[in-house]
Amino acid sequence: MNRLPASSSGVDQAAAVLRAGGLVAFPTETVYGLGADARNVEAVTRVFAVKGRPADHPLIVHLADAAQLTGWARDIPETAWRLAEAFWPGPLTLVLPRLAGVPDVVTGGLDTVALRVPGHPVALALLAAFGDGIAGPSANRHGRVSPTSAGDVREELGADVDMVLDGGRCEIGIESTIVDLSTTKPRLLRPGAITGRALNRVLRSPLAKANAAVRCPGNMPSHYAPRAHVILASPDDVGQRIDEWHRGGQRVGVLASRRPAGLAEDVTWLRFTGNMREQARELYHRLRQADHLGLQVLVAVMPRDVGLGHALRDRLRRAAGLGDDGGRARAPPQQLPGGE
Ligand code: TXA
Ligand code: MG
Repeated sequence: MNRLPASSSGVDQAAAVLRAGGLVAFPTETVYGLGADARNVEAVTRVFAVKGRPADHPLIVHLADAAQLTGWARDIPETAWRLAEAFWPGPLTLVLPRLAGVPDVVTGGLDTVALRVPGHPVALALLAAFGDGIAGPSANRHGRVSPTSAGDVREELGADVDMVLDGGRCEIGIESTIVDLSTTKPRLLRPGAITGRALNRVLRSPLAKANAAVRCPGNMPSHYAPRAHVILASPDDVGQRIDEWHRGGQRVGVLASRRPAGLAEDVTWLRFTGNMREQARELYHRLRQADHLGLQVLVAVMPRDVGLGHALRDRLRRAAGLGDDGGRARAPPQQLPGGE
């Protein structure tokens, strides 16, 4: 596998790999994507195989600019243009009715397609060189933690990807906000760095409440999960949560902005800074670190539910396998669930 720095020749070579039906992992401002020519059914099918992703979990198509929307979507509402104008290039994905020619394999057979213009110079250079949509899920195996560096991608996918473009560490660190504009009222499908409040300002009317019954396809309760068993805690009960697991002889770590008082020596503190932007940037890196350290349990102190905290809490709940259901702490089992 080639792992090239994102020089212009690297970008040209990556575009050639895509044209030939190959897979290129590329940096975005959110997380690294596993890219394929979105109009090449065979290439997109290989993305699903490499990820081990079920066929009914649709992919996002990345575009060079908002003008390319008309090559993929129909009945584009005025709100889509407004959101594109306000937030693209950037960490926002729009779900729109698809044009008939969009391959079923990309949309999981849905009548809609997810589209975004990423805010990363290397991604934009690749999209410009390639000239059309690049289908790209996050470049991790299905259900695992999204990669936020080229090294993470290599660790995840090894030789299963033809080329990795290295664009450094991802600036945002968690996946894009997804808004569904295919129904009468815009709906938030996945929280991200573009907050509900920022969206409402541009939409000039509040987003429809996320409805647990209408889940984002592929947005599963357990996702973004490290090998370590993630336990959610509050600043008040973090000590108790740690004790419960530590007492049982587990290798325990804690993800918290402050070192919890009276922490046992053999409990690893993974520092989480106080600033939510920095926390988002660090989150997946820390989850990977927990695995590298061989932790069996990671007790995570939940950020407050304001601004970006909403998306951070969403990802931590999924890492804990608790989905959208509010993150009640689980009782420590006698034994950890077996295997991986
Ligand atoms: O930040 C991101 O969005 C990253 C970078 C690489 O762009 N991509 C990403 O892709 O997170 P992925 O495949 O890991 O997550 C895309 C999500 C899927 O979980 C799926 O639920 C949703 O987008 N999605 C895709 N097409 C959809 C559609 N037509 N309707 C509703 N949801 C859709
Ligand atoms: Mg993903």
